[in-house]
Amino acid sequence: MTFTWSSPTRIVFGEGSLARLPALVEEVAGPGARIFLVTGRKSLKASGIRERVLDGLGASRVSVFDDVPPFPSPDVPDRAVAALRASGAEAVVAIGGGSAMDVAKSAALLATHEGSAREFAVGPSAPRPKPFERPGLPVIAAPTTSGSSSEVTPFAALWDVEARRSLHLATPRLFPAVALVDPELALGMGPELAAVSGVDAFTSAFESYWSREAGPLSDALNLEVIRLYASHLERSCLEADRAARAACALAATVSGIAYSNSRPNVCHAVSSPLTLFWGVAHGQAVGVTLPAFLLWNAPAIADKLPALWRALGVGDLDQAVERVSGLLARCGLATRLGGLGIGAGDVETLVEHMRWDRTAVLPRPLGRDDARAIFRALL
Ligand SMILES: [Fe+2]
Repeated sequence: MTFTWSSPTRIVFGEGSLARLPALVEEVAGPGARIFLVTGRKSLKASGIRERVLDGLGASRVSVFDDVPPFPSPDVPDRAVAALRASGAEAVVAIGGGSAMDVAKSAALLATHEGSAREFAVGPSAPRPKPFERPGLPVIAAPTTSGSSSEVTPFAALWDVEARRSLHLATPRLFPAVALVDPELALGMGPELAAVSGVDAFTSAFESYWSREAGPLSDALNLEVIRLYASHLERSCLEADRAARAACALAATVSGIAYSNSRPNVCHAVSSPLTLFWGVAHGQAVGVTLPAFLLWNAPAIADKLPALWRALGVGDLDQAVERVSGLLARCGLATRLGGLGIGAGDVETLVEHMRWDRTAVLPRPLGRDDARAIFRALL
């Protein structure tokens, strides 16, 4: 057996732990350090969290960057870098969903390098981007959704919607210094956001588990992620139950630790065109093919299936597929491509534009004809 493992982000988890932010900033950047705070556009203001954070840190030493749209283009971190440099900040704090955290991580690292986000991004037509040669500014990442897992990962997703390409930055230098996971921050999620963010991390756990990159550490964590979501996601989405929300916050962070080491693959590969061509929300876009690719990959990981069935609380593959599809449906997500507006004439677009570079780690190789047949059966 051979595997590698890296998880350098310090995790501070617990209800109310946002109160520890000032002390954590001091630990990573020293007393009185100037802070660059990155958030999404609206929800943080509406929830009152932003005022609490500014009061706690001392507003006079904080520069706020809140111009982060969903599916940020590479121009967004470039704008953030300019604002970050102008602010003279020594640490970056991200409070928000995956987009805010990804932009914050990107800006903190790009700020110590020359060049734009595009020059450093990995994509279908940029397999060898410019390397990051130095550490960036320290990042403290506090998620307000439970599923992007960006608070513990060395990745940042960027979207070139006009050119219909998904890009990402990927380097161990992107690991945040601290993941500050306060489940209370995720209580503001509506049912749809709770569903799409949760299904993102839930799907990543399966992809990470069946991957050829998987090892004993990622397996143990992914099984726990799958067990947590299978037990709590529905109540988190439908009832906003406090304990269920906390379980999903934990699952999301644990999923990121695992998939930083054994990466999401085929469901994420297909999600790129679903998002870029049809505007499908990320968690929905990865989740819709999860049952189908579980069916595809299961025969190649036969020795790992009994543990997976235990985590899901089922007895065999048919029940597992049923369990996963049922969970998605009860959380309000589509389980067929047809439900997302995709018809028979769109299958070629999916096959053509899926991120084939992400499928090399599949335990059962997937060809274009296989993908075509899977998508047709899922219409
Ligand atoms: Fe994802």
